[in-house]
Amino acid sequence: MYSILTALVLLCSAPSAGTQDSDPQTPDPDPVAVAVLLEERCARCHEPNSGDEKAIKDWPDATDLNATLMIDLMVQPGDPEESDLFITCDEGDMPPEDEVEEPLDVAELALLARWIKDGASLPNPATLERRRAELKAAREGAAPPADTTLKRHFGAKTWLAFTGRLHMTLLHFPVALLVLAGLLSLRSSPPDRLLKSCLGAAAPFACLASISGWILASELTGDMDLHRWLGVACAALSVGALLATLKAWRVWRPLVLLTCVILIAAAHGGGDLVHGEDWLRLPT
Ligand code: HEC
Repeated sequence: MYSILTALVLLCSAPSAGTQDSDPQTPDPDPVAVAVLLEERCARCHEPNSGDEKAIKDWPDATDLNATLMIDLMVQPGDPEESDLFITCDEGDMPPEDEVEEPLDVAELALLARWIKDGASLPNPATLERRRAELKAAREGAAPPADTTLKRHFGAKTWLAFTGRLHMTLLHFPVALLVLAGLLSLRSSPPDRLLKSCLGAAAPFACLASISGWILASELTGDMDLHRWLGVACAALSVGALLATLKAWRVWRPLVLLTCVILIAAAHGGGDLVHGEDWLRLPT
């Protein structure tokens, strides 16, 4: 179906392409647009650092149009129907269908076909660089819609991603309650009811915060092993401290205080992850 639609679009746009041949100011089709299209839709896999060995073997770098043109059969200038680059997209094989990718739309296919038909010229490097910078700025200005980033990591399981996001809310409960428990533990001996209630509320929240945190960390990149394990240790210790105070074990106070110390280390590490190291001392 795409072939028919593409042919139609090509047919409709043919006269304008003809009239613009004599006008070097508005090159049509725009090789910069083609370069950007391939970078945005193909380089996720076809890029030296993508980790997709199979994809790289066939086409090592979608961001390098010059190298792309050198690949045998990839682009036959003048003949899209003999060019693998176009054929795989036109037939809907590339990009491969998954949770994230959609096939190229009719206009994108037409752009690709016209570019090859007109000789597959290379973009002006400076113009391409400027366009990349513009796109990057636009992307950074407008945060990506939450839905696509969620989909990228969790597929249809957006509820799981949502559970991970709850970490940022949940973590405040154990932070407040466990610090309070630490202070209360200094005051009373044996442990009084206020301390027990405080720990009774803190321990479940500490567990929820560490579970949600574990899920969130699986989605993020970066070095957060220490923070993860401190969070888990804090949750386990808070359960231990709760038990110890309820049963008035002799170690109840050291356990509550240790939980407090681990909590502070975990929370500080979490602050570093969100705000960057040195966030306590440096101006933001
Ligand atoms: C999700 C990852 C992914 C994306 C995105 C992707 N590809 Fe691929 N591509 C692959 C893999 C994997 C292979 C190797 C397929 C194989 O060996 O069976 C491949 C192979 C190819 C080949 C060689 C296939 C052949 O039969 O000659 C071409 C051409 C190609 N891709 C073009 C594209 C184009 C054009 C885009 C963007 C519009 C694109 N790919 C986007 C993963 C991807």
